[in-house]
Amino acid sequence: MGIIHFIGNVLLNIYIFSWDTVLTLFNLILPNKAVGKITPKGHPGFGGKWPEYVRRKDGDSRCSCPALNAMANHGILPHDGRNIKFTEMSQKIRTTYNFSSTFCLFVPNYAAGYLKKSYRKDTFDLQDLDLHNAIEHDGSLVREDFYNCPDQSIIAVPLVEQLVACASGKDADGKPLLTAKDLSQALTQRRVDAKATNPNHFSTSLVHRTFGSANASTLLTIFGGRMDDIRSLLFDERLPDRWESRVRSQFGLTFGAFNSTVIKVQFGVKNPPSKGQPEQA
Ligand code: HEM
Repeated sequence: MGIIHFIGNVLLNIYIFSWDTVLTLFNLILPNKAVGKITPKGHPGFGGKWPEYVRRKDGDSRCSCPALNAMANHGILPHDGRNIKFTEMSQKIRTTYNFSSTFCLFVPNYAAGYLKKSYRKDTFDLQDLDLHNAIEHDGSLVREDFYNCPDQSIIAVPLVEQLVACASGKDADGKPLLTAKDLSQALTQRRVDAKATNPNHFSTSLVHRTFGSANASTLLTIFGGRMDDIRSLLFDERLPDRWESRVRSQFGLTFGAFNSTVIKVQFGVKNPPSKGQPEQA
């Protein structure tokens, strides 16, 4: 990476996180979007009407992220999962999930960075995102570790079953709800199990543990912990009919707001200690 590119990225990230603070404050002041109007008019999913769901076909590119795969399965991203512009992913994540413009710029730009591509000009296939130990990491909730399963688009059904079984909360109608505590316990268990089943290759770092907590926290924020919706996302990589993001803030889910959930999940996790070292967050 050239020095100019590096400085450009530092400045961009300063801009993103400053602007994120402003959006977080505006979200606190402004009224929420009306139910049924989270996805803007004219975009797939307006009023909870998602384009037809078509399972992946042979040759389609998919990745470890259930939320991006679901977008491809509905044709919001190209169904074959190929030649996607980073800028297109940014815009479509914004309208599909109501993440803030700051998240929708930062994460795809981060992905362009680790793929050594231009965020503004280049394209990628979904499977490219699974560069091991970039965002994709060991001990995740819905995929076997890369060493045991190099194709990270494969849904690890027993792991998803384990996750959905741990929902301990209840909504107003008595339906099961996933909580931050459930996710911390699930992540703790996954890391213990992953380390035990993959002892020679299991790796972890604070950055990857934080990605793990952040990915998992989308189930509490964007999906509101609602298990019916989460099952559809994780087992079928499908957005249910009439579903819309549970985040109703005008400017979408900012890092400022999201981090309060991520921190709660992250601090509840007990990591398997390395030899001679204490447990860590
Ligand atoms: C912005 C672009 C995005 C990229 C590049 C991305 C990438 C990834 C990757 C590489 C993983 C695998 C991590 C692992 O090994 O556990 C992942 C997992 C995940 N992502 Fe995404 N993602 C994006 C957006 C989203 C959005 C918008 C949502 C939710 C609405 C989401 C929800 C999830 C969930 C629930 C997981 C599974 C976590 C786990 O197994 O522990 N992602 N994502």
